[in-house]
Amino acid sequence: LSFPQHITGIRTLDTGTIDTIFKETKIFREKLDAGQTITEDLSGLTVLNFFLENSTRTRVSFDLAGKMLNMKVVNFSGESSSLSKGESILDTIRNIGAMRFNFIVARHSVPGFPGLLIKNTKARVINGGDGTNEHPTQALLDMFTLKQAFGELKDLRVCIIGNISHSRVARSDIHGLVKYGAKVSICGPASFIPSGIEQMGVTICSRVEDAIKDNDALILLRVQMERNAGALLPSLQEFNKFYGINGHKLMANPGIKILHPGPWNKNVEIDDDVIESENSLIFEQVTNGLCVKLALFKLMTE
Ligand code: CP
Repeated sequence: LSFPQHITGIRTLDTGTIDTIFKETKIFREKLDAGQTITEDLSGLTVLNFFLENSTRTRVSFDLAGKMLNMKVVNFSGESSSLSKGESILDTIRNIGAMRFNFIVARHSVPGFPGLLIKNTKARVINGGDGTNEHPTQALLDMFTLKQAFGELKDLRVCIIGNISHSRVARSDIHGLVKYGAKVSICGPASFIPSGIEQMGVTICSRVEDAIKDNDALILLRVQMERNAGALLPSLQEFNKFYGINGHKLMANPGIKILHPGPWNKNVEIDDDVIESENSLIFEQVTNGLCVKLALFKLMTE
């Protein structure tokens, strides 16, 4: 079976394809850990990082992965582009398409945005996050990190805590983890839990103390202030008190692993002591994120 031409979401990827990505990701991770040079050579190919929402981890890791594979990488900034002169997004895309990029990695606030790129360019498109819809590369790196830590995703107990309703990461993680038979739950204040979420195959846990006690790993999500999520809470202090994760709460399950896609609001959803603790897989996630991008570029070119 051939590898998909575009990566728009986890929902549409089968486990065979995800396993192939994990296999390649592991090889890159081993090379990186051994300090070996990456010998895969995609020189001659071009990548546009088309990010219309801010990003550190996703944009920089795609940039670095492209350069490690000898591709020519161009980083587009919405603020300094002709969008600021009133050029429409469709005209911008058609002009970018005319430059014949081989890959476009896109982040935009509108769900389904990658579809607009697929329709109007000949590039292979990778979704770097589309509104509240999906963030497939985040889910791939999260699942890979959990596999690294636990060996198997089947029957792994994972609770996603926090701002679920605004979170494309939650949606992609749920699609992916459920495909592999993980036992996924979500936890957060009622205003952060979308109605009907159980239809995605998750259960709802109302107390963070139970989430800690009953799971192997927690994925913490940022309270997304830029999407006005703070307005759905009485206060950030109260969120921290009831749903924030700190070292004291983790004493109920000392072996539990903590993931966070970043950026984090320190002392809101995660306290300092957890970020620096043995429980934290946060920086492993970032390293694995680079390896996922190396794997995707390689597999999408074969
Ligand atoms: N996890 C993530 O998407 O981080 P950035 O917004 O910094 O890319």
